[in-house]
Amino acid sequence: MEHDVIKNPLIVELELLRANFDKTTEKLIKDIQRHEKIMTKADKRQKQEYDELQRKFAEVEALQKEIEETQKEVIFTMGSIGESRSKETGNHVRRVAEYSKLIALHYGLSEHDAEMLKQASPMHDIGKVAIPDAILNKPGKLTPEEFEIMKKHTELGYDMLKHSHRPLLQTAAIVAHEHHEKFNGQGYPRGLKGANIHIYSRITAFADVFDALGNQRCYKPAWSDEEIFNFFHKERGEHFDPKIVDIFFKHLSEFLHIRETFKDPI
Ligand SMILES: [Fe+2]
Ligand SMILES: [Fe+2]
Repeated sequence: MEHDVIKNPLIVELELLRANFDKTTEKLIKDIQRHEKIMTKADKRQKQEYDELQRKFAEVEALQKEIEETQKEVIFTMGSIGESRSKETGNHVRRVAEYSKLIALHYGLSEHDAEMLKQASPMHDIGKVAIPDAILNKPGKLTPEEFEIMKKHTELGYDMLKHSHRPLLQTAAIVAHEHHEKFNGQGYPRGLKGANIHIYSRITAFADVFDALGNQRCYKPAWSDEEIFNFFHKERGEHFDPKIVDIFFKHLSEFLHIRETFKDPI
């Protein structure tokens, strides 16, 4: 007699479970595979975006560098224009720049700040572009009225530069404004005293005077080293920040080396 084998219900149950399990497993595997595909695609896209970003960064960086270089050049050229109006040599601004950085480093300023001052200090006399030739290049002493006009080159330079937010031009503005202030408060235009004069300006003032004394100007012959050294001893704490005068004598050979390296062609 043939009759259906009655399966053990437990086996039926288990077989059903296995079928379900197989289905779920298959679905899971498919899901994982699909996910993987999506991930690789996303990875690829992400990598592309990343590369693109890197390239843009490099471009911006190159552009930034060019802007900085241009800025440096413009500043240096402007400084030279200011000096050439007063018949000073092109190397004057170069030497002032070098002396300024040297002093800044010995003073304890950071490499970054010293370099910034080096680039900004050649601008100290930019305001002279607005001073009449007759005063600027007058042989001999200026009358008190003429001197009052001459003094204006500090404020004129400051006004020309103060509107920029670039740190370099801001530094140049400060230096243009204050490079004739004296440590004892007897300078111009504001009669600032001691540390109220920005350190950048105190440094540039020294560098500028040191260089001017050693060279002939329309109103004076060049001084000998002995005369210059006596002058700095006398003006220590008067015209100049005493710490800067001390730096000068302590590192004299470095200053003379710069003077020799950038001397005017005869
Ligand atoms: Fe000046
Ligand atoms: Fe100067």
